[in-house]
Amino acid sequence: MAKMLCTGGAGFIGSNFVRLVLETTDDHVTVLDALTYAGHRESLSDLDPKRVTFVHGSVTDADLVDELVGDHDVVVHFAAESHNDNSLNDPSPFIRTNIVGTFELLEAVRRHGRRYHHISTDEVYGDLELDDPQRFTETTPYNPSSPYSASKASSDLLVRAWVRSFGVQATLSNCSNNYGPRQHVEKFIPRQITNLIDGIHPRLYGAGLNVRDWIHVDDHNRAVLRIIEAGRIGETYLIGADGEMDNKSVIELILELMGEDRSAYDHVADRPGHDLRYAIDAAMLRRELGWEPHFKDFRSGLAATIDWYRANESWWRPMKEATEAKYAAAGH
Ligand code: NAD
Ligand code: DAU
Repeated sequence: MAKMLCTGGAGFIGSNFVRLVLETTDDHVTVLDALTYAGHRESLSDLDPKRVTFVHGSVTDADLVDELVGDHDVVVHFAAESHNDNSLNDPSPFIRTNIVGTFELLEAVRRHGRRYHHISTDEVYGDLELDDPQRFTETTPYNPSSPYSASKASSDLLVRAWVRSFGVQATLSNCSNNYGPRQHVEKFIPRQITNLIDGIHPRLYGAGLNVRDWIHVDDHNRAVLRIIEAGRIGETYLIGADGEMDNKSVIELILELMGEDRSAYDHVADRPGHDLRYAIDAAMLRRELGWEPHFKDFRSGLAATIDWYRANESWWRPMKEATEAKYAAAGH
């Protein structure tokens, strides 16, 4: 049994990761989470307290991070400010949490000689043209567009430098857009599902031609576990499930699956600097670590996600009004 420290474990991907660890290993997990607007204690409340310990605190707290890292075998770092639109309103927490927080973890991991896995995003590579035959690979040059993606790119570069300069035992993964249960209603898919439950039209930024490469959160997390288990130290793995779809088609599919007219949505102001297309080539992960996505059909994965939001209104309702007020102020 290993002792795993999971930062950001009360967020969307982290909370689903903790569930997967409990289901598929006999590891103990300590969650370190600051419970920002995006962290939900309830996302973990039904889990076995003998196997999950919750610590309320920030990855920027050097003393707390040092103590916790010293007491664990493996650190998996999910904690971040994660939303592009927020980073355009106020970049400062993105710099503190995503860059300084990663720095504190790396320093603690270095002092204690612990295994570290760094969770990152495909957004560090910038965007692609719609007709570009190339997809992102492990060697694509970094070219981030937003304060969020620049802060994630910065954190990735710190990890790479700590591996090379200090021999830190780290791996990195850069994943495409996740969907699934427990995602904050500020994000594209849950926002539209919960709007429709509330009788509000879905909101499409601009013309909606932007393409995202959708992957189910459990497929992302299975890849992360596999990398922790068998990934080569110092290596970056791209995680994606060949799920490219433009935003307009996603909204139309949500409308159809929820029994609405496929054209019943509104166009709203576009995001400044909006990345056009992300697309991941995950050949290395598949070849080297034998990973395959379980969710190969986006339509059925999306239908299950809609069912989850319908059945769990008590989870998302408390955050809906404030989220929509923020969007209204920004013209989205
Ligand atoms: P999220 O916003 O749902 O959750 C983030 C969690 O981190 C929250 O629980 C929050 O309370 C916590 N947190 C924030 N600041 C903290 C701090 N200073 N100290 C401790 N905890 C803090 O985010 P998510 O979508 O689950 O993303 C998790 C990670 O995965 C991030 O690193 C993100 O960059 C990366 N990622 C996300 C996606 C995606 O599609 N959502 C895709 C690829 C990579
Ligand atoms: O690619 C991985 C990234 O995916 C992660 O690193 C980020 O943490 C995660 O938030 C996500 O970033 P995006 O900016 O792609 O996700 P978001 O859900 O904000 O938006 C997805 C697309 O939908 C994007 O093109 C903007 C558009 N959009 C978004 C919202 C909220 C709309 O058209 N309407 C909306 O209401």
